[in-house]
Amino acid sequence: WDAITEMDEQNRPIHTFQVCHVMEPNQNNWLRSGWIQRQAAQRVYVELRFTLRDCNSIPWVSGTCKETFNLFYLQTDDPLPAATRFRPTDYAKVDTIAADESFTQTDLGDRVLRLNTEVREVGPVTLKGFYLAFQDVGACIALVSVKVFYKRCPATIRNLAAFPDTVPHMDSSSLVEVRGVCVENAEERDTPKLYCGADGDWLVPLGGCFCSIGHEEMDGYCRACRPGFFSAYAGNKKCSKCPPHSSSHDQAATICHCDKGFYRAIKDSSTMACTRPPSAPRNLVSLINDTALFLQWMPPADTGGRKDITYNILCQRCDGSDGDSGVTQCEPCEPDLRFIPRPLGLTGTSVAIIDFATHANYTFHVEAVNGVSGLGVAARSLANVTVTTHQAGPALVGVVRKDWASQNSIALSWSQVEQAPPDIVDYEVKYYEKEQEQLSYSSTRTKAPSVVVTGLRPSTVYVFHVRARTAAGYTAYSPNFEFFTTPEDPDIADQGQVLVVVTASVGGFSLLVILTLFLLITGRFMLYVSALSVPFSGIKTYVDPDTYEDPTQAVEEFAKEIDPSYICIERVIGAGEFGEVCSGRLRIPGRMDIAVAIKTLKGGYMDQQRREFLREASIMGQFNNPNIIRLDGVVTKSKFHMSNCSFFECSHFSLFPSQIMSFYPFSSGRPIMIVVEYMENGALDSFLRTRDGQFTVLQLVGMMRGIAVGMTYLSEMGYVHRDLAARNILVDENLVCKVSDFGMSRILEDDSEAAYTATGGKIPIRWTAPEAIAYGKFSSASDVWSYGIVMWEVMSYGERPYWEMSNQDVILSIEEGYRLPAPMGCPVTLHQLMLHCWQKESGQRPHFNSVLSFLDKLIINPSSLLTLVNDVFPDSPEDMPDYPLFISIGDWLDSIKMSQYKNNFLAAGYTTLDSISTMSIDDIRRIGICLIGHQRRIISSIQSLRLQLHHIQQSGFQV
Ligand code: ADE
Repeated sequence: WDAITEMDEQNRPIHTFQVCHVMEPNQNNWLRSGWIQRQAAQRVYVELRFTLRDCNSIPWVSGTCKETFNLFYLQTDDPLPAATRFRPTDYAKVDTIAADESFTQTDLGDRVLRLNTEVREVGPVTLKGFYLAFQDVGACIALVSVKVFYKRCPATIRNLAAFPDTVPHMDSSSLVEVRGVCVENAEERDTPKLYCGADGDWLVPLGGCFCSIGHEEMDGYCRACRPGFFSAYAGNKKCSKCPPHSSSHDQAATICHCDKGFYRAIKDSSTMACTRPPSAPRNLVSLINDTALFLQWMPPADTGGRKDITYNILCQRCDGSDGDSGVTQCEPCEPDLRFIPRPLGLTGTSVAIIDFATHANYTFHVEAVNGVSGLGVAARSLANVTVTTHQAGPALVGVVRKDWASQNSIALSWSQVEQAPPDIVDYEVKYYEKEQEQLSYSSTRTKAPSVVVTGLRPSTVYVFHVRARTAAGYTAYSPNFEFFTTPEDPDIADQGQVLVVVTASVGGFSLLVILTLFLLITGRFMLYVSALSVPFSGIKTYVDPDTYEDPTQAVEEFAKEIDPSYICIERVIGAGEFGEVCSGRLRIPGRMDIAVAIKTLKGGYMDQQRREFLREASIMGQFNNPNIIRLDGVVTKSKFHMSNCSFFECSHFSLFPSQIMSFYPFSSGRPIMIVVEYMENGALDSFLRTRDGQFTVLQLVGMMRGIAVGMTYLSEMGYVHRDLAARNILVDENLVCKVSDFGMSRILEDDSEAAYTATGGKIPIRWTAPEAIAYGKFSSASDVWSYGIVMWEVMSYGERPYWEMSNQDVILSIEEGYRLPAPMGCPVTLHQLMLHCWQKESGQRPHFNSVLSFLDKLIINPSSLLTLVNDVFPDSPEDMPDYPLFISIGDWLDSIKMSQYKNNFLAAGYTTLDSISTMSIDDIRRIGICLIGHQRRIISSIQSLRLQLHHIQQSGFQV
């Protein structure tokens, strides 16, 4: 080999090693590299760039000229001493290298260099370094460059966790698990992990971190909130602007402090606006009649930004002036002055006052207070009014006596004060229960100075006062007198108690008998028994809302009621049986707002529809699992007010209130909604259809695993889904799959796939186990069958199970033992799991927890996913699934509803089943089948045909 420097077209030097002893036989020319340190490499790659001369282009060299050279390597822990003799036998051969492009004499004349690039993996290399050696055995070669490299997964940041630069495993089928470290100012949510693959790609991101309080996510990092912004919760949310009347002056604020004169009440959350005490009530007026004095006012002009205003009445009596000083003397009002409903904490804007003195001057102060009154130094917010009372005259009734009392009556009499006028018309006796204060009172009239008051409660203290009426009007009341009724007759009381006990026990026993009979008759006894036995087993059991006499009760028990003003609807994303499905935001005061999906019940609904609609919420509300769609709450009770909606401004408010109103059932005036977490990628089937071929098998298995987690949870709770299908799985932004659609588990009205069966039930045939179709035997085992179909939908990127076959054909084919073939590119292990889920005998299907642990094993050991179905043949005919056989290409294409391609096959010379059995996806494309979905369908059917043909050939038949 000679070191030769040549010039390229731009006259730049190219340093090469060249050898060209093509005329002489038995060449053995070696070129060796310097010692190359292995560094961290586990798998080493060598990229060679070289030119090689075509022997045909060199005259008279036949026999001696070669068109290949050999690559060797030698591992050592240290460089070999300079004097070491080169011994070819020490070197291990990597490969013989041939050129893709050789050049001829003409090329040389044109000075066109045909450069070849070849890459080889060297190793395994385990010692500290190695040499490369190149053996020429008689070719005409110029070695232009040798690049030695290894692959690493580069340091990266995912989900706010940093992952170091990582060298992949030596074994290409296993992944290196790397734990990430949260970036600065971030906290761990779920242990962040990534897997480093052999090609230096990061795979399967798990877990992650979120930004600490006072920080927000920005380009994969957490940056401090700027002054004027804050973040009160850890999460991947943007910092929020400080609420009104508050500010933050430093970076990384977790709270915004109130501006001067504004406050937050203890119960206010730190995300709420700061507020101040209200101004004084307005327009305070008084009214007085014979018996009562009324105060009325209007709310303050400035509520301070709060809605929790109450009013306190403060009273002073200012009678005349101090003779000497001329200053009016005021003192607190007499304690028996009474305020209806009460003097303090009034929520309304009026109060009645009774039992005031006649000919007196009262000054009333009405004070407005709210949740932050008293927090600052602001003056009290008072409105004042002075009232002078005039009545017909001083009280004429002196002492009131009790003459006798029984359980229900009290007899009273009273004397008149001396100098009582002779013209008393009658007396008014007013009384009320002392315990009840003045909330309700009764009165009676009598002409005589005595009365028997009846209709009272036993053992109760009553307050009485009496006033006289003269021609000039009412006089003032007598002072208050308190008397009580006698206790109940003990004999009667005991009988009552015995009666209650007997009634209760007889009633209780009958109730038990009736309940038991009812449960037995309705077939729900088992459900109750299992529900009752559950607390001992430690697993929460699903309670069927249909077992509630009043389904509303089930909703109340399992679903939180949401005030509709907390919901902002942004857009319509779909339509359900009952009404539109919208996306929007839910902002519960004091909490971060979240994206939600809102299912609405359209207006004019009947009671039965309302119950069916809310059934889903009472089911979903019982579940709590990361792979089950989360119920945030329901709206069932509130009247809808437009103003409520404007309270919550959406950043992307795309609907005007009038449009929003059309979502709400106006005929009834009550919006009915189910609010659930929003899943960014929508339904799994359509999601996969739009992302055909874009995921790794490991990602697809990750999706199946999520669904298996959700279904394991449901089956352990004793819940049977009955409509498990990819269209009922929702996918979030991180590809997490969650099981949804629970409302229809009983009736399946909402599922367009559900068809009526002979027994009258409505069933999604393609997804349903044979025993459930035939005689309605739904169970977790039938859900496992559906799960197998969902696996198939996932692996075929949303293909329709059994394609365009009719429901009837599907039922018959399943009955005959036909099972869906593995989708294109499906690992054998996954198709085997599908076939296991589709066992005819429900008892032989795996339980969901076994499905889950099987998938976990595949994920931990991804090499188990490398063998694809089209790579294997069964070892024995017994291993073969019993698939039906087709006679001709035409029959076969008809059976998979691809008849339109008959001519493509025939024109390309494919006339027998044997001939198509070796077709590859490229062959399918070549004969003019362009739609990727059709290519998939045909190739997966060919795979299953190939198995059948193999089976038949083994049994000695000719096809
Ligand atoms: N469609 C129905 N429910 C949904 C949800 N929760 N998120 C997104 N799209 C949906």
